[in-house]
Amino acid sequence: MTITLAFDVYGTLIDTHGVKVSLAEMMGDKADLFSTLWREKQLEYSFRRGLMQNYQDFAVCTRDALEYCCLQLGEDLSAEQKQRLLQEYRKLPAFSDVEPCLKQLQQGDYRMFAFSNGHADAVTGLLQHAGIDQYFAGVVSVDEIKSFKPNPAVYAHFLRRSGASGAQAWLISSNPFDVIGAVSAGMSSAWVQRSPQAVFDPWGIEPTITLTSLTDLDSGISGNTP
Ligand code: LAC
Repeated sequence: MTITLAFDVYGTLIDTHGVKVSLAEMMGDKADLFSTLWREKQLEYSFRRGLMQNYQDFAVCTRDALEYCCLQLGEDLSAEQKQRLLQEYRKLPAFSDVEPCLKQLQQGDYRMFAFSNGHADAVTGLLQHAGIDQYFAGVVSVDEIKSFKPNPAVYAHFLRRSGASGAQAWLISSNPFDVIGAVSAGMSSAWVQRSPQAVFDPWGIEPTITLTSLTDLDSGISGNTP
């Protein structure tokens, strides 16, 4: 039986903290804090826009969150510096376990999709830049229904678009809110714990499996498929 995999993109395949080198050049040791706050605000803005039904492209959430961080952390970046950071956001690197994982899965009975808050053009560009686009059967973006994760409608949209059903479709994500959203919508899910400090939200809704590296995905799914 073919298993359908929906890979989250930002934070799971692609490292959003890849901008830290440029941030460090611009602000020294505030770079870590800035990068973390930027990512948190970007997601908060997507959640709020989803709830308010005031959808804008995820790139707008990213841009507005950058402006917020400059204000909050007192970093007076020039228009050119902000432009450079946003350009780099379109060329972020993949995590080192991604390609070995995709290569391994390609040998098995899987259909792989990228499934993201990002616009399909931005996601396709990232996958191409990282040299991993050839592993995917397609890109499914929330932009197609103008809402954001974890609205249950976006997981239903993924299932419709991929032609997969419920538990035979797996969401693979490092973002606990995404995993909880997918499990609540009837999908199976793997949580990728990208750092030992990453905590899973204690809501009582658990991932089907937890991994510390994507290279364990194939065996994890095989061990949890009836
Ligand atoms: C994504 C967000 C969750 O790629 O980062 O969908």
